[in-house]
Amino acid sequence: MERTLIIVKPEGVQRGLIGQVIGRFEAKGLKVVGLKLMRIPRETAEKHYAEHAGKPFYDGLVGHITSSPVVVGVLEGPEAVSVTRGMMGVTNPKTAAPGTIRGDYGLDIGLNIIHGSDGQESAQREIGIFFASDELVSYERANDTWVVGA
Ligand code: RTP
Ligand code: MG
Repeated sequence: MERTLIIVKPEGVQRGLIGQVIGRFEAKGLKVVGLKLMRIPRETAEKHYAEHAGKPFYDGLVGHITSSPVVVGVLEGPEAVSVTRGMMGVTNPKTAAPGTIRGDYGLDIGLNIIHGSDGQESAQREIGIFFASDELVSYERANDTWVVGA
């Protein structure tokens, strides 16, 4: 089992898409093991997006993600990182395939609705930035065997 971090970005919250976005992951079978609505402090955003520091879009990116509340979550499941990235679609919503979150809900690369960790190492790092260990809950679902097998 893997865990991955997702963020429903400010535009997703403002457009009332929290339920639809989280609902897709739930319907897929991924398990929500952490979830909260928050306004991201600047220092936290800088830590989260450290890999992009110095890039032309960095200041706008940090400014945007801190501009309005987001929903941050941790999803658990088999190959959760790549499954989640696939469901998100490519970075630019203009070219993201229909059926993906970005492909279905977005048009602008800076307003692409959803963040997801891009690897297992970044998932661990990002989960640690946003969640204390006692905010993540391990639990069984009655239908787990009907989703991921025995
Ligand atoms: P994310 O980190 O948000 O899940 O997205 P990603 O892996 O698909 O894309 P990444 O390269 O990590 O970029 C992070 C976010 O920065 C914005 N961006 N803008 N204007 C631009 O050229 C540009 N490039 C990236 C996007 O909002 C992207 O999600
Ligand atoms: Mg990324």
